Formats: sequence, structure tokens, C-alpha cells
Amino acid sequence: MHVALTGATGFLGLRLLRRLLDTHTWVTVLAHAGSGDALHRITRSLELTGAPRAFLAGLPERLRVVETDLALPRLGLSARAFRELADSLNAIWHSAGSIHLEGDLPELRRTNVEGTRHVLELAAAGRAEPVVRHVSTAFVAGARRTGVVYEDELDDGAGFENAYEQSKYEAELLVHAWSREHGRPALVLRPSILVTDVPPHPELPSHPLQVVERILRDARRATVAAPPTVTSPPTGAPDGPSRGTPGSPGPGGRPRVRTVGHQRGRLNLLPVEHAADVMVRLSELPSSPSSRGVETYHVVHDRDVPVPTVVALLERLVPLSIDLVDAKPQDPSALEAMIDFYPGITAYLTHRRRFDDTRVRTLLGPAAVCAPVGLDRLWSGLAPRSGAIPRPPGTPSAPAPTPCA
Ligand SMILES: NC(=O)c1ccc[n+]([C@@H]2O[C@H](COP(=O)([O-])OP(=O)(O)OC[C@H]3O[C@@H](n4cnc5c(N)ncnc54)[C@H](OP(=O)(O)O)[C@@H]3O)[C@@H](O)[C@H]2O)c1
Repeated sequence: MHVALTGATGFLGLRLLRRLLDTHTWVTVLAHAGSGDALHRITRSLELTGAPRAFLAGLPERLRVVETDLALPRLGLSARAFRELADSLNAIWHSAGSIHLEGDLPELRRTNVEGTRHVLELAAAGRAEPVVRHVSTAFVAGARRTGVVYEDELDDGAGFENAYEQSKYEAELLVHAWSREHGRPALVLRPSILVTDVPPHPELPSHPLQVVERILRDARRATVAAPPTVTSPPTGAPDGPSRGTPGSPGPGGRPRVRTVGHQRGRLNLLPVEHAADVMVRLSELPSSPSSRGVETYHVVHDRDVPVPTVVALLERLVPLSIDLVDAKPQDPSALEAMIDFYPGITAYLTHRRRFDDTRVRTLLGPAAVCAPVGLDRLWSGLAPRSGAIPRPPGTPSAPAPTPCA
């Protein structure tokens, strides 16, 4: 079976590629044209994430790189190259996309919706009828903040927290329409927020929690003249609701920030390697001969992470004291006003919903189970390798990464 993958240079795509190479001798990488030498980037990223030397040495022979642009008709290829590519494939994994949570809808649609349309056209054109594995997101559930979200649900009734979610929802609709039109099966994989314990590095793709950390850090820099004191006391454990009067400094003299959030809120965070493993396992299951439709799976953790744990993580990284409050402050400080500039991201602190993944658990059994995602694991994936940000005193050292089952 010859398989192609979009987005192989990305945070998830890299892990999907690594996992696909366990069972495929060759993979065609549909790389982003104009983004640099994909083979070099992939090799370097895999090296930084611990791939063995012999595995790296084999990559030039095992990867066929085709430069593409999702946003362009025929992925930017000539008619002939497009047909030849389509005819060479038995499976297409579509992981590329823009995860720009603050992006505007037209820009996100170009990559996520039109990009998916062009990938589906590639699948439709292939003589061997390549199967489609579409990477979506659990966040197509949009602004539904409470209750249980099931895998067979796809509606826009609650609206969306941001344009990214909407673009991914619209992309899923396209997959359904394509499957109906062509009578072809498709797998839709909906991961939750993906995390890693691999420390950040300029040559590695970033991940969503890094984006949040960057926003807080930039806001802090832009509004506070004094240099940050990164060694202020730890906030390793959540300590209940509001910890002081608005405007007063937080513990260790840190600037206090009030942001709307729920003390009993929770977010689903899943190690990216585990997500890739679950996705590939699901794709390897024999599909029923009668199945010509779309099968959708929530690729999520069975235990959510409490919002106060996420807040504690951010407070370890950024010298701020974050108070979760019920409603937007009437008298926002400059810092609060800046952070409020990202409503499509901060809204997640109010979420209390749960993603049902009964079907994944039923199909994969223990292979679906992942070790808990705790503060130390999250810290490890955000603190720079150099150790430039000291560990707060009194916190135990980060444990070795716990493998998932
Ligand atoms: N990260 C998460 O937590 C998360 C959670 C749920 C779902 N997802 C979904 O998982 C998928 C992968 O996410 P990710 O975290 O790996 O994102 P990422 O790190 O930002 O990677 C995006 C990938 O898409 C490629 N790409 C972007 N624009 C392109 C274009 N116009 N043409 C061709 N390739 C293009 C990028 O190539 P360059 O690097 O060369 O630009 C990169 O390989 C996305 O569909 C996302 O919606 C991610």
C-alpha cells in the first residue's frame, strides 16, 4: 500500500510520519512548497525527538517529497503531475492545516477548507481509489461548553469559539459531501489538544500550549516596564478562587490578571505520540465491507486536565498571577485588556464538556489508554532545553516521560 501524508513537517504530522514508517516502507510526503527543504526539516525534527541514527539514515530512500500548496487547485501541481500522483496512491492522510487560533476566517478557509477540498479531489482522481484519513479536531464541537460530545455529532448550533474551529467544521462537512458523492469511505480523526514532553526547540514545530504561553509573555512584556522576575514563588497547585483583590499584586509580587474561567473547568490534553499511534491503529482495523461512509473517532484522553492545573502551568512559565473570574472585569488593567484580545483562546478556560470516545475504546481496548497528563509532563514540553527558566523551588524534578499503553 502506498500512502501519502500532508503536513509531515507539523507537530502532529511528524509523529504520524514516524508511526506510518513503522508499517510502510515508503511514504510520499506532500510538503508545503516554499517552506524549505522538507526532507531536511523532517530529519532534523525526528532527530530532536529521539529517532535512532539508523532510522534517520534511511529517510532519503524511504520518503518521496512532492512540493504542494494546499490552497491551490490541484495542490499547485500540473495536471499531469496531479494525475500521476493520484494514481500512485492507495491512502491519503491529510494532516496539513493552519492551527492559527487567532487567524481570520478567509485565511483559515483557504488552507483548511479549500486545502481539504483539493486533497479530496486528489483522492477522487486516483485510479486505485485511495482511502482518505482526514485529521480534524474534537473542537469542531465549537462553543458547546458543557455536556458530552459524541463522535457522530457534527453541527454548528452552538457557534464556534474561533474561526479555526469553524474552518475545521466546514472541512469535515466537505469530507461527508465527498464520501456521499463518490460512494467512498473516509476516516475522520478528531484529536483534542495535543501536547508533548519534548522541550521546545527552534527547529521543532510549536504546539498550542506554546501559543498560549507566548501570548501571556508578550502581553506581560508589552504592559509591564519592569523586567520579569522568573524566580518568584511557585504556583504548582491550584489554590482556589480569587486570591486577592483586583489590582493588588499576586503571590511574589507578580502582576495579577483576572480572566474569565471556570474553577471546575477542564480541558482534554493528549500526548501527540499517543494520538498518532491511536490514529494509525484505527486506520489499520479492517473496515466492514458495507462501509462506504464516514467513520469519525474522538482521539482524546480518558481523563481531562482541570483548568486550574493549566493555569498553574502558565504561572510557572510567565511571571503572572492568574485569577479565574466569572465575568469580564469592568475595569480591566492594560494587561487584562491585552489578554482579552484573544477571546477565541481564553474561552477554553470556561469549558467543562467531555468528549465521548466509546467507539475508540471498544475497538482498541488497552491500546487506547494513555498515562495521565500532569503538570510536570506539561512543564517539560514548555520549559526550554537550556533550563533558562528555573524550576520553582520546592517542585519535584520532572519525571521521565511515561509511555502510554
Ligand atoms: N496541534 C494540535 O493540538 C491539534 C489538535 C487537534 C487537531 N489538530 C489538527 O491536526 C492537524 C495537524 O496539526 P499540527 O499541530 O501538526 O499543525 P502544525 O504543526 O501547524 O503543522 C501544519 C502542517 O501543515 C502544513 N501546511 C500549512 N499550510 C500548508 C499549505 N498551504 N500547503 C501545504 N502544507 C501546508 C505545514 O507545512 P509547513 O510547516 O512547511 O508550513 C505543516 O506541515 C491539523 O489539521 C490540525 O487542525 C491539531
